[in-house]
Amino acid sequence: MRLILLGPPGAGKGTQAKLISKKYSIPQVSTGDILRMAVAEKTQLGIKAKSFMDKGLLVPDDVVIGIIENRLKDDDSKRGYILDGFPRTTAQADALSKNLKKMGAEIDHVIDIEVEYNELLKRLTGRRTCRKCNEGFHILFNPPKKEWICDKCGGELYQRDDDREETILKRFKVYQEQSAQLKDYYGKNGRFFSIKGTGGVKGVFDRIISILEYDNS
Ligand code: AP5
Ligand code: MG
Ligand code: ZN
Repeated sequence: MRLILLGPPGAGKGTQAKLISKKYSIPQVSTGDILRMAVAEKTQLGIKAKSFMDKGLLVPDDVVIGIIENRLKDDDSKRGYILDGFPRTTAQADALSKNLKKMGAEIDHVIDIEVEYNELLKRLTGRRTCRKCNEGFHILFNPPKKEWICDKCGGELYQRDDDREETILKRFKVYQEQSAQLKDYYGKNGRFFSIKGTGGVKGVFDRIISILEYDNS
């Protein structure tokens, strides 16, 4: 199964991708996570990407397209994958479609998760992520048992550099200007679904599962 998750910053793409990955044993492919890892390791890619990410801007298309093309060649992608945070521009979507054609594959479902800005702001300012295993938490909506400690692996939790209020607003604007149009891009295709991203993590997951299990379009 090949799946694309669309939605604004904080919509729950990462949270849902992890649950889907576990249920169907296919990898979560998050360009944001790959870029953050490069930033932490201070690689050449990381140093270049950081200047864009800290401002809430998109990393240039050629860079992320290159990352995805390499990642989708990995063995674990053969049975499928969940794209979380890619594509984010029409140029990225075109490149993905070209690459899939070359590999003789296609996307099975595109799911867009919708959440309004005030809720996104609450989600992002309260988000905590595990440095070791990347599990996500929220101080109010999904709190860890111990503050700053991961329930799953005992690792240290951190707050993302781009989760400051002014950067969140910039990311949201960039989403509206450059990424929201992907809903129309994929909306022309019967495999596109838009769902409500509120009502708790489990409620959203149930909506996604019903699409994955019952959509035969
Ligand atoms: P990226 O890491 O992709 O960030 P994003 O799109 O801004 O999305 P987030 O990861 O912030 O949100 P999410 O939807 O994953 O929400 P989450 O599940 O964590 O990208 C970061 C940067 O990298 C970009 O700004 C750009 O610079 C660069 N980049 C990445 N990809 C790129 C690309 N393709 N092209 C160019 N540049 C790229 O949930 C958020 C919080 O809410 C959590 O605390 C969670 O616990 C909580 N929560 C989740 N669901 C619920 C729910 N249903 N109810 C209550 N709380 C919930
Ligand atoms: Mg994410
Ligand atoms: Zn952890």
